[in-house]
Amino acid sequence: MNRRLMLARLSRVAAALALGRLFASPASATAIDAPAGSYPFTLGVASGMPRPDSVVLWTRLAPQPHAPGGGLPELPIKLRWELADDEGFSRRLRSGTVVVQPEHAHSAHVQVDGLPAGAQFYYRFMTADAVSPIGRTRTAPAADADVASLRIALASCQHYEQGSFVAHREIAARDLDFVLFVGDYIYESSNRRYQVRAHEGPPPMTLPEYRARHATYKLDVDLRAAHAAHPWVLTWDDHEVENDYANDRDPLELPPAVFLQRRAAAYQAYFEHMPVAPQMAPQGSAMRIHERYTWGRLAEIWTLDNRQYRDAQACSDRAGGSVVAPCDEMNIASRSMFGAEQERWLAQGLARSTRCWKVLGQGTQISPCGVDTALMRRVHTDGWDGYPKARERLLRAIAEPRLANVLCLGGDVHRHVAAQLRLRANDERSPIVASEFVCSSITSHGLSEAMTALIRSSNPDMLHARSDERGYALIELNPQGAGCDFRATPFPADARARLSTQARFYVEQGQAGVVTA
Ligand SMILES: [Fe+2]
Repeated sequence: MNRRLMLARLSRVAAALALGRLFASPASATAIDAPAGSYPFTLGVASGMPRPDSVVLWTRLAPQPHAPGGGLPELPIKLRWELADDEGFSRRLRSGTVVVQPEHAHSAHVQVDGLPAGAQFYYRFMTADAVSPIGRTRTAPAADADVASLRIALASCQHYEQGSFVAHREIAARDLDFVLFVGDYIYESSNRRYQVRAHEGPPPMTLPEYRARHATYKLDVDLRAAHAAHPWVLTWDDHEVENDYANDRDPLELPPAVFLQRRAAAYQAYFEHMPVAPQMAPQGSAMRIHERYTWGRLAEIWTLDNRQYRDAQACSDRAGGSVVAPCDEMNIASRSMFGAEQERWLAQGLARSTRCWKVLGQGTQISPCGVDTALMRRVHTDGWDGYPKARERLLRAIAEPRLANVLCLGGDVHRHVAAQLRLRANDERSPIVASEFVCSSITSHGLSEAMTALIRSSNPDMLHARSDERGYALIELNPQGAGCDFRATPFPADARARLSTQARFYVEQGQAGVVTA
């Protein structure tokens, strides 16, 4: 082996040791079994990042999730896992033992490689005398496979205090390929006006506090059911750290170096509680969440990060988002939502894609949603309206290679939206280059219907917008077209409620533009 190759290999091993192996390392002699008699799987199980040959299995041991250390001693603990192709585990395909570490909140991220493509599996974890609930998951179809359909539940914005996760109960019961969650998985803040149940404490600032917040969410039976039923594909928005943060800029105006410590704690806790690959573990205050997935020849899916690399919101003295008349600063060409590197990565990936559907999963609404007043248009600076040049570049990256069948899926705005994406927004003469569906929130309260009507009337590209519905969007792609059902219940989402389809839209393959189904 030549010296360069050896050095490269050594540094890869060092990186692997520094990352993954610390929080779920192979079984070692010093690790103990979980203390007998206390059930450690209170936060359930989850799976994610389905690839043609692999999937990630997750759990976290925490017999008392809100107690220090989750109620466990500060020692490494042995954890067994099994994956089978039947629910009775009579045909075990894989099994293994990992050691979960107290410095990673005893969380496990087991990436099972070498699996058959396009297959369904069952999995579970065991330690001492305790056995976890059984989870169901799947691998993506082979990258070159002809696939008849892809069924996604698109969801975001699940403020624990503002309603029941009844939408997740329905998601758990559905026949889906995966859940695409596009942000606001936890909320750091509270709003007493809309409180039907309470967080465990005040806004988290430290790692133990963010861990406790994630535990509160995972203790919800319906959320656990949705995780156990399907693999999840995830990206984040702001509330996983703090409302309206931008890169290292804090709306509370902490100095960037101090805010980055809070962000590091939030990212660490996020990683510890999500079914993401071990190599995604944060490095200090940085964590790469953006990813690319394939679903046979049918679809290529990009999950995008709108928060970590963005420029700060423009046109206001105060940090965070505000509603303003656009100013010159907003139109500075270099201002970015994704950051230059992610922009390039996405544009190159889009231009190269030969798959039928190109799906962008990202935090918020891309189509404009400003409001025309008698004197001027007013826009919200935290959304894509506050980054017009970045939006133009994104749409050009679709229009210039003449890509057909680009579907943008977003969340954040707490309203169901179906919209056209044009190079010149709201100008009927400008061609439609892509289509957009935005899901409402699982629970978080939305704008008034009067305000939503005003937004609608100011933006003809928006075909549909409803802010008074809580729920999710059911997306089904096949070689002929893409359908979207907005599933909803009124606010606040009640534990006994049933969701129903409130509106249905369709995009025909090769015909950019949303139509009513
Ligand atoms: Fe939200």
